[in-house]
Amino acid sequence: MQVVKYMFQPHGDARGQLVALEEHVDIPFTIRRIYYMYDTAQGVTRGYHAHKSLEQILVCIHGSCKIRLDNGSESKVVPLEKPYEGLYVANNMWREMFDFSPDAVLLVLASELYDESDYIRDYDEFLNFIGKEGTAQ
Ligand code: TYD
Repeated sequence: MQVVKYMFQPHGDARGQLVALEEHVDIPFTIRRIYYMYDTAQGVTRGYHAHKSLEQILVCIHGSCKIRLDNGSESKVVPLEKPYEGLYVANNMWREMFDFSPDAVLLVLASELYDESDYIRDYDEFLNFIGKEGTAQ
């Protein structure tokens, strides 16, 4: 399973750092939604779902967290701890977010508006869905 990480360009000078993200330039899709998680309680794992068509880029813009990606046949844990590093999460990919530091802010850039019907929240249903679609690798 290939983990796709984007290293964004920080525009640093004596004042500090700035990262700019543009759709179809730094981000490989049209950005239709942005959301972020913060004040995550210690020990919590979030996510536990896949998307049928949504693509996302996850950026831990403050603090750190870990992302478990699972394509139905393989699973990998990816630490996110740099504000200039983005993790691409394709559709048909089960994800869990955990090990949030108390100061973590996890920013998500998403290719679609919120649509509950795009979620697969049951792991067996996910396996069935990708098997049916033939996208498991
Ligand atoms: P939830 O799907 O439980 O988050 P996670 O996948 O991280 O566990 O979302 C938490 C709540 O926020 C839930 O009530 C749905 C709502 N929500 C929106 O309204 N819009 C969004 O874009 C997202 C991601 C969630």
